[in-house]
Parts: sequence; structure tokens; C-alpha cells
Amino acid sequence: MKLIAGNWKMFKGPRETREFCEAFRVPEGVDAVLCPPYVSLAAAVESGHTVFAQNVHWAEDGAFTGEVSAPMLRELGVAGAIVGHSERRQYFGETDETVARRIVAALEHGLRVIACVGESLEERQAGQMELVLRLQVEAIGDAAGAHEGLVVAYEPIWAIGTGETATPDQAREAHALIKGLLDVPVLYGGSVKTDNAAELLSQEGVDGALVGGASLDVESFTAICRAAANLSSS
Ligand code: 13P
Repeated sequence: MKLIAGNWKMFKGPRETREFCEAFRVPEGVDAVLCPPYVSLAAAVESGHTVFAQNVHWAEDGAFTGEVSAPMLRELGVAGAIVGHSERRQYFGETDETVARRIVAALEHGLRVIACVGESLEERQAGQMELVLRLQVEAIGDAAGAHEGLVVAYEPIWAIGTGETATPDQAREAHALIKGLLDVPVLYGGSVKTDNAAELLSQEGVDGALVGGASLDVESFTAICRAAANLSSS
């Protein structure tokens, strides 16, 4: 079964979250996950949908202003967390080391984890895609191994929010590389939309999608989930 996760980023407070969740029906045959901002997690959990946070701290508690721990998320009924999204690496000083610490703590506390990796345009153009992915994936693998609660999301930074997607060949190549380093399911992320989801999801080694912008709209997110469900059943 393919995993389709909607990363809402800093969109939708509790009211809009409730509206989305009431309207959203998960098509049969897909593992659908919603990832709202922290303040909307409770509203999403109450709807009965599977909910992940967008980050998680490594400590159980402590003097870490602005952070949220794995036991706190578990208490709320949250099932997992995204870790190491490129926006956190780019704007909030996340490193391979902090990503690894967050992943280990989350898995130890029974959260599922979507760990994000991906190269920038400059890195790809400089021929460093393989090196960048290797370093990022090895940091995750060294810390967590092929844990059953772990999936990796390949999100080329140049495809995030740009309307530009990796070609099917580029996705297949990157996913094969990642799986060769760490044997876990790998999601594709970066401008996944209703009209390109089926083609991307049908590539060998693409086990699901991490969807940003198109996950904010119930109809487009449902259509992407349906495309995944159809592929899982065929
Ligand atoms: P977009 O689908 O908006 O390109 O965002 C991808 C992403 O960053 C999901 O985590």
C-alpha cells in the first residue's frame, strides 16, 4: 500500500483543519497521512484521520523553548512526524546530526518517521546529487537503521513549490540510490499534483508521495490518494 502524506507546512489553523478533515474521505487501499501545524494537531486527531507532526524534538522534556517532544505528540494521539524537511534545514539550522537525533527519539517513542533528503539545484548542476544524498541518507541509516517505522522522502529542493517535478527517470534513479543505502520505503516529494501523481507513483521504487501545496485542497489531495490506491490495487 502506498503512503501519501500531506505536508501542510504553515497553513491551516484548527478551524480550517476541522473543515478539511470533515470533508476528507480516505480512498480504500492507501495509507493517507495529514501533517498540520502543531496548533492544529488536536483538531486533526479528533477527526480520526492519521496525523503526523512536521517536526519533533529529541528530548522528552526540558528547557527547549518552542520545541515539542515525542511523548507529548504520542499523548495527543499523533502517529508520527516529518523530520529534516529541507525548509527546516534551510531556514532553521537543521543539520544531519540534529535530524538523526530527532529520528532516533521519535522511533524510540513509537512514532513513525518521514525523514526528508534532497539536493539543491546547484548541487545537482555541480554533479553532486549522489554525494549529497549519500551523506544525508547515511546519517539517517547510521542512527536508525532500516527501522520498520521509518520511511525516507526524496524531495529535490529545486522541485519544492516550484511547479517543476523530477522526471520519472530522475525519480527512479534517486530512489534506487537511496534504497541501495537504506532499505526502507521511499516517498517522492516536490510539486506532486493531481495530473502528475499517477506517473510518478508508478515508477519503480516510488512507494508514495509527500505532497505540499496540492495537499491543502481536499479535492486535489483526494485525487492524489485515489491515484495511489488505484496503483496499489493494480
Ligand atoms: P510542494 O508539493 O508544494 O512542491 O511541496 C513539497 C514539499 O515540500 C512536501 O514536503
